[in-house]
Amino acid sequence: MDSILVQGGGPLNGQIPIAGAKNACLTLMPATLLSEEPLTLTNAPRLSDIKTMTELLRSLGSEVATMQDGKTLAMSCHGEINTRAEYDIVRKMRASNLVLGPLLAREGVAEVSLPGGCAIGARPMDIHTDGLTLMGADIELRDGYLHAKAQGGRLKGKGAVIGFPFASVGATENIMMAATLAKGTTVINNAAREPEIVDLADCLRKMGAQIDGDGTSTITIQGVDRLGGATHPVVTDRIELGTYMLAPAFCGGEVECLGGRMDLLTSFCEKLDEAGIDVTETDKGLKVKRRTDEIKAINITTEPFPGFPTDLQAQMMAVLCTANGTSVLEEKIFENRFMHAPELVRMGANIDVAGGTATVTGVNKLKGAPVMATDLRASISLILAGLAAEGETKVSRVYHLDRGYEKVVRKLQAVGAQIERISE
Ligand code: EPZ
Repeated sequence: MDSILVQGGGPLNGQIPIAGAKNACLTLMPATLLSEEPLTLTNAPRLSDIKTMTELLRSLGSEVATMQDGKTLAMSCHGEINTRAEYDIVRKMRASNLVLGPLLAREGVAEVSLPGGCAIGARPMDIHTDGLTLMGADIELRDGYLHAKAQGGRLKGKGAVIGFPFASVGATENIMMAATLAKGTTVINNAAREPEIVDLADCLRKMGAQIDGDGTSTITIQGVDRLGGATHPVVTDRIELGTYMLAPAFCGGEVECLGGRMDLLTSFCEKLDEAGIDVTETDKGLKVKRRTDEIKAINITTEPFPGFPTDLQAQMMAVLCTANGTSVLEEKIFENRFMHAPELVRMGANIDVAGGTATVTGVNKLKGAPVMATDLRASISLILAGLAAEGETKVSRVYHLDRGYEKVVRKLQAVGAQIERISE
């Protein structure tokens, strides 16, 4: 199993290219199930999660080819397809549940294994299934699978409002895709507003879908009889972007994140400003550096977009471990997303966790130590903490990292980090 060794060291300087978004690509790929025509995605990230989605789509009968540049996915799904998403694939990656809506819309039936819980929370699918039920689907949980059937063979937009109790990203994506081929108009209220949802809507519109309001809390989808093909560039990964924007905050120096956009991370950039970190837009992306040698303590509450992203909470906590003062972080999206805290404490941090609140009292310096990654964002927060710590940090179980960060060692080495991957 691989580990990553990080030697704490000096400032980081240079440029880091930001890839296409994992969380956009994982919802764009199932859109191929909605059409008989080819769908091509450019700027796709090279990640193990994308490989898992490829495996899933192929198991359903889609053709998925990665082109020579490694960043273009050519997909097509014509003729008879399999409507069962097997547990053996779904258990590897929760986002597999994003085939439920497209399969139901295309075939009127679907059997999708329930993903089960994960390290950061129970993560049920009730909002997905309640919405699809309102669109005329009969859904039953049997033998660990959701068995779904559209009454009369086709989903119906009810013209009524499907009101979400919580602005779920996945449920918005599943219902939006399902509604593109439904009979009539579907309205989602309290929809999620994440940039990945706007990216999906843009792609679906290129395929011929009629969608309005994406990016707001109310999305209206006028169903059509069929969708065509399209070529679509995957939007920049705002979570990878935010992660690397924090690198110079940890260690000093100045880093330019190529392809970075401020509008993808407004609330995050406001918090960086509060902490004493400057972010400037350049013609290539975003340039980041500390105003002084000191980071100020700040308070964070994670929220759905445009609020502070939960996927940057772990990385921000690591920075605040050496801030001047006491910071309070509230995790409002997932019930168990502080697993990185005890690992940071092993590096000398002073963190007190009580339920969904973590209180971080800044210390002068972290110390390198062997630590263990527990999930994707926790793993990168430990690597970043290691960059600013005294001595060597060894992060194990880095397979978590491969799910969401491409070429992390090379990207950080390029700006002067002392980091390497070792196989044991
Ligand atoms: C997406 O997960 C992202 N994953 C997550 O990123 C991200 O943390 C999350 O949105 C929030 O921004 C992908 O896009 C593949 P939700 P998703 O449905 O869609 C509860 C990463 O690190 N809920 O918005 O699963 C749920 O339990 C990952 O890249 C229900 O109760 O998130 C959670 O507490 C981690 N019932 C909250 O809502 C439902 O039916 C948010 O979930 C659906 C969700």
